[in-house]
Amino acid sequence: MTISVIGAGYVGLVTSAVFSDLGNKVYCVDNDIKKIRLLKKGKIPFFEPMLADYIKRGIFKKRLIFTSLYKQAIPKSQVVLICVGTPPKNNGEANLSYLFSAVKEAAKNFTGYTLITIKSTIPIGFEDDLEKTAKKFATAQFEFASSPEFLREGTAIEDTLHPARIVIGTTSKKAQKILLELHAPISGQRIICDMRSAQLIKYASNAILATKVSFSNALAVLCEKAGADIEKVLEGVGSDKRIGRSFLYPGIGYGGSCLPKDILACIAISENFDYDFNLLRAVDAINQGQILRFVNKIRFVLEAEETSGKNLAGKKLAILGLSFKPHTDDIRDAPSIKIINHLTDLGAEITVYDPQAMENTKRILPNIKYAKDVYGALDGKDALILITEWPQFQELDLTRVKRSLKSPIIIDGRNMFDIDRVKQLGFKYVGIGR
Ligand SMILES: NC(=O)c1ccc[n+]([C@@H]2O[C@H](COP(=O)([O-])OP(=O)(O)OC[C@H]3O[C@@H](n4cnc5c(N)ncnc54)[C@H](O)[C@@H]3O)[C@@H](O)[C@H]2O)c1
Repeated sequence: MTISVIGAGYVGLVTSAVFSDLGNKVYCVDNDIKKIRLLKKGKIPFFEPMLADYIKRGIFKKRLIFTSLYKQAIPKSQVVLICVGTPPKNNGEANLSYLFSAVKEAAKNFTGYTLITIKSTIPIGFEDDLEKTAKKFATAQFEFASSPEFLREGTAIEDTLHPARIVIGTTSKKAQKILLELHAPISGQRIICDMRSAQLIKYASNAILATKVSFSNALAVLCEKAGADIEKVLEGVGSDKRIGRSFLYPGIGYGGSCLPKDILACIAISENFDYDFNLLRAVDAINQGQILRFVNKIRFVLEAEETSGKNLAGKKLAILGLSFKPHTDDIRDAPSIKIINHLTDLGAEITVYDPQAMENTKRILPNIKYAKDVYGALDGKDALILITEWPQFQELDLTRVKRSLKSPIIIDGRNMFDIDRVKQLGFKYVGIGR
């Protein structure tokens, strides 16, 4: 099949790479000309495991074409997959300007029946507006469908090839048939439904994941107060198959480009339909509270909580991990940024290390120090603060860590270190809920 993918971001690029590898001819369209120039040379604008190989293979086999021109791509495509960003506006609602602009540009170039399939996460209630926009500019027949994306950064290729489900949101039999055929080589349960239900499946999935994280964090507070160990509690809770262990983890809260914005958007969508989704308000409030709670933990351990103002002045802190989770360089809505801003406001001197996310971070935090390696970051510091649980941090030589630090203090925002071992080695250790 010949298809167009609009938006060469995390979702669009991975989608283009996988569908071209499965034998389709894919036009990947982005209005960022610089990005397209880079991609044409086989260079990836962000870090995602395995993606570069797929892209190079697609270009080499001439099945993957990058362009900024809709007119080069759309007329030849039976399906247009829209993967542009839907970032939050100040009031939490999703900003749909990129989506409408993409639909308009695509519609101008339809030459025969075209199925516009929205993979971006978009709120329900805009189906009529999308239809009207396309009608205004199209001279050929078209239909809309929704097929939300569930990939996770860091395992995006694997997730796209082996998803738990493929949601096909359209009541048109013709559109269903086309999307079933396009996805035929990909495993996973097929959920066929209307557009609104498809969009809500995406929001509800992220909402429940975020709820599990916030539930774990709330429980961790109770554990700290009551003298219980959250890790043991969650091991016990998660071993029940009805509950499961995934996303039951305490830490500094969820971040990234999806969960925070999708929770806010889900609250806003509910309001538009006259429903107060107060459960999700609590999920968001707990998540936001985790940042300050963690900063206060750092102050407490460093005995800097009593005085007001810049009470971390003179403290040199090593931050390990910047990306919102391991195996990505994405720092969108990453807890690290908020924590570092709090700590520098309190006067601390910050040195950071992350295996992938330092270049992105330098653009928004140019005034902190960036170490060349982990031990360089730790050298002479008052504490190690673990923010992102990259596997290489788990393999650190803790004796060398202790030698490198000025004071043997670990503040573990992800409960990554083995508590017994670090204590045995003489570290002062503070985790979450234990
Ligand atoms: N990143 C994820 O892990 C993930 C997972 C599932 C779903 N989603 C959803 O998928 C959507 C895309 O997310 P992303 O992280 O890939 O976004 P992104 O910001 O990484 O990429 C969006 C791309 O779209 C391009 N773009 C914007 N307007 C355009 C236009 N009119 N024409 C052509 N290109 C245009 C931008 O230049 C950018 O390259 C969002 O709705 C997001 O919520 C993201």
